[in-house]
Amino acid sequence: MRAPTIAIDGPAGSGKSTVASSLAAALGLRHIDTGAMYRALTLKALNMGVPVQGRELLAQLAAETEITLEDGKVTLDGKDVTADIRSPEVDATVSAVAAHAGVRKVMVALQRELAKGGAVVEGRDIGTVVLPDADLKIFLTASPEERARRRHAEHVTRSGAQLDEVEKDIKERDALDTGREVSPLKPAEDAITIDSTGVPANEVVAAIMALLPSGREQ
Ligand code: DC
Repeated sequence: MRAPTIAIDGPAGSGKSTVASSLAAALGLRHIDTGAMYRALTLKALNMGVPVQGRELLAQLAAETEITLEDGKVTLDGKDVTADIRSPEVDATVSAVAAHAGVRKVMVALQRELAKGGAVVEGRDIGTVVLPDADLKIFLTASPEERARRRHAEHVTRSGAQLDEVEKDIKERDALDTGREVSPLKPAEDAITIDSTGVPANEVVAAIMALLPSGREQ
């Protein structure tokens, strides 16, 4: 039987990464974290001093950049950047980089290539733009407070950021990701919305497994 493609979209801190990686492991599928790809490009732009408003330069940079995702490891031009792409500097600038149509064009082509043969793909525009024919589309949400708490718990060991700073950052990114002209964050018409507020990740995964067309659970 053909392996399914599953799209998981949602805002920062909605639990996409945890849910998508557990789901992929349970189904024996690849997990593609498309946010990590925008983050890797942003890291390169920051390192090279390319301004985040530089539309054409960034699109060109995207075309010249090699990004790989393998078993949770992210490489940028052959170098392991798995940890570096989670820095506060990347957090603060990635939405601006991801807003450029030229950058998205390159990334979407790569994402479609990676998803061939079945995958769990997480991002913002997977159900709407990248994989409009995905077998299952999930839009994962959680209250802004809970999303900020989750991101804070992840960040506090690294950067010592305060909860209110994380909440402010999340709100700013939500506004940029939802309000941008190209591929804004929104549920696909045929997406199923799951609110993960107060719900453990394993229960969200079980709920998604139950939605798979029959025979696809194994
Ligand atoms: O999921 P994340 O927080 O790692 O994503 C980082 C940024 O990348 C986020 O601010 C929006 C952007 N992004 C996007 O525009 N489209 C995607 N498919 C995935 C992420």
